[in-house]
Amino acid sequence: MQTSTCQAIGECRMPDHAVLPQPLYREVVQFIEALPQKEGHLVTVLHKAQSVFGYLPIEVQQFVADHMEVPLAQVYGVVSFYTFFTMVPKGKHPISICMGTACFVKGADKVVHAFKEQLKIDIGDVTPDGKFSIDTLRCVGGCALAPIVMVGEKVYGNVTPGQVKKILADF
Ligand code: FES
Repeated sequence: MQTSTCQAIGECRMPDHAVLPQPLYREVVQFIEALPQKEGHLVTVLHKAQSVFGYLPIEVQQFVADHMEVPLAQVYGVVSFYTFFTMVPKGKHPISICMGTACFVKGADKVVHAFKEQLKIDIGDVTPDGKFSIDTLRCVGGCALAPIVMVGEKVYGNVTPGQVKKILADF
């Protein structure tokens, strides 16, 4: 099913969520049940779902829509609006390279190139073993340390292309 069709009619149903592990769905349900109320908490629940599943494929969006009692189109609208939500899976260690002005001026594009060369993937892709993915970000607020690279929660500052191999070896 095409997402755009789904969004347009606003009431389509997705196939059962059989592919992703059921315990992960339970974790999201428990989170929702612990909320004082559902209204006004859609973004919070989507954050939780993304941290649990790693991304928000359409079946997870449908699941959230069902449990939050809102239309799938509304969930999809939120997920596609905020750049921190992703509908595609990331690597176990997602690499995010800041391409804000300060980082760019200090050579972030060369750092991106070095990661692409080392991992043999493009921006937005995941390595075949699922270990790494590469994304770029806008300013993350650490310009004094430009260029900045984050691998999962770990932050690297003043990164040069020559350090890329060593950074990858940390994981
Ligand atoms: S531009 Fe990269 S941290 Fe600000």
